[in-house]
Amino acid sequence: TRDRSEALRTPIVAVLGHVDHGKTSLLDKIRGSAVSEGEAGAITQHIGATAVPLDTISGIAGSLVDPDDFDLPGLLFIDTPGHHSFSTLRSRGGALADIAVLVVDVNDGFQPQTEEAIDILKRTGTPFIVAANKIDTTPGWNPQDGEPIQVTYDSQSDRARSRLDENLYEIIGQLSDSGFSADLYWRVQDFQANVGVVPVSAVTGEGVPDLLTVLMGLSQRYMKDQMAIDVEGPGAGTVLEVKEEKGFGTTLDVVMYDGTIREGDEIVVGGMHEPIVTEVRALLQPKPLAEIRTEKRFDRVDSVAAAAGVKIAAPDLEDAMAGAPVRVIRDRDREAVIADVESELAEIQVDTEEEGVVVKADTLGSLEAMANALKEAEIPILRAEVGDVAPRDVAVASTAAEAEHQIILGFNVDVLPNAERELEESDVRLFDDDVIYQLVEDYETFVEERKR
Ligand code: GTP
Ligand code: MG
Repeated sequence: TRDRSEALRTPIVAVLGHVDHGKTSLLDKIRGSAVSEGEAGAITQHIGATAVPLDTISGIAGSLVDPDDFDLPGLLFIDTPGHHSFSTLRSRGGALADIAVLVVDVNDGFQPQTEEAIDILKRTGTPFIVAANKIDTTPGWNPQDGEPIQVTYDSQSDRARSRLDENLYEIIGQLSDSGFSADLYWRVQDFQANVGVVPVSAVTGEGVPDLLTVLMGLSQRYMKDQMAIDVEGPGAGTVLEVKEEKGFGTTLDVVMYDGTIREGDEIVVGGMHEPIVTEVRALLQPKPLAEIRTEKRFDRVDSVAAAAGVKIAAPDLEDAMAGAPVRVIRDRDREAVIADVESELAEIQVDTEEEGVVVKADTLGSLEAMANALKEAEIPILRAEVGDVAPRDVAVASTAAEAEHQIILGFNVDVLPNAERELEESDVRLFDDDVIYQLVEDYETFVEERKR
């Protein structure tokens, strides 16, 4: 009923997958379809996220979704750009996303970042479905714009259909190799035991009605209890990015997953060295798409309730870290909230040893993922930190006793110019990559080759 739904927040849906497999296109299609359904005003563009209300979803999904069956308000989609690891999307004790869509190009199948996403989904226990994208590129395809998959299937030649089926079963096999029992979504009875695969095209929109229907159904069925929050309570969120913004200095792009944040609120943010306590100067939301090119790119808002993406402008944010917690203090004890943030950060502390390699990563989440991968590979860590490679890292790495540990492993980070010079002058070697297991593999190959 209406009354109860007011306390249910929007489920957070992370869209992830390998570079170029179509994550952004899929969201663009959902936004674009909403425009053609006359629902343009209903879609709100957040920082790093897009909110799609239930009415809009049912507009796109047509007969597949009856809004009366649902009391969740809609879905909040988070796009994860290729260079940005999904592992940033963490929250207290787990994943920020309630559910995920793993986008896989039907022709390419599993690729390194698909595997990496699967590992993180497994580790965080995040439920997910697979969008088998780009079905329109199947040879001989007869596109049916915006139609549900059954309609489009029925319009294909036997040949085109079996070509697609082959690709789909390849992906189902790859999921099974990764330890997930999977099937085409309409054959799945129990979505907690099996991963549903939804064939889609981000270009023609085929299968998008099905995708939204499955997401909405899963959220409603399995996640409703988690969505019941105190929307008026002090906000909690996760930093997606720390960014300079003209006129605002250092700002935070944040996804709020609980409560409310208001202008003037005192907040605690996880920092490089210690928790940052500061006051919200402004809360900013992007202007609607059509206005984004104008001078003012943001609208100021007084408050934001979960779940939502928002840009926070406040003093002293320079040391804030992507992946770190944000907490509104409001009427709580300040020291208690600081302790809370500290304990959350302590969960991510990486075990270091007397001897080992130096690890640098772009976010807390990716640092955590790196540490896990290195532990599995039995590679010891001397120091692990968020941030670009600095001269100090070179100095630390050069103190390792073994030559094979005089190494910096950098994930998604830059090398500061003065560190570049130090690297040239020392024996320390830098490995960098934006795929974790590639980074580990490159390093292992290096170690093996040295032994010969
Ligand atoms: P990153 O953000 O770089 O990781 O990529 P992405 O996953 O967001 O992929 P993006 O949406 O940018 O799409 C990559 C390319 O694939 C673009 O040229 C798209 O037009 C194309 N593409 C995406 N989806 C489809 C699809 O369903 N069919 C076809 N034919 N092309 C697609
Ligand atoms: Mg993209």
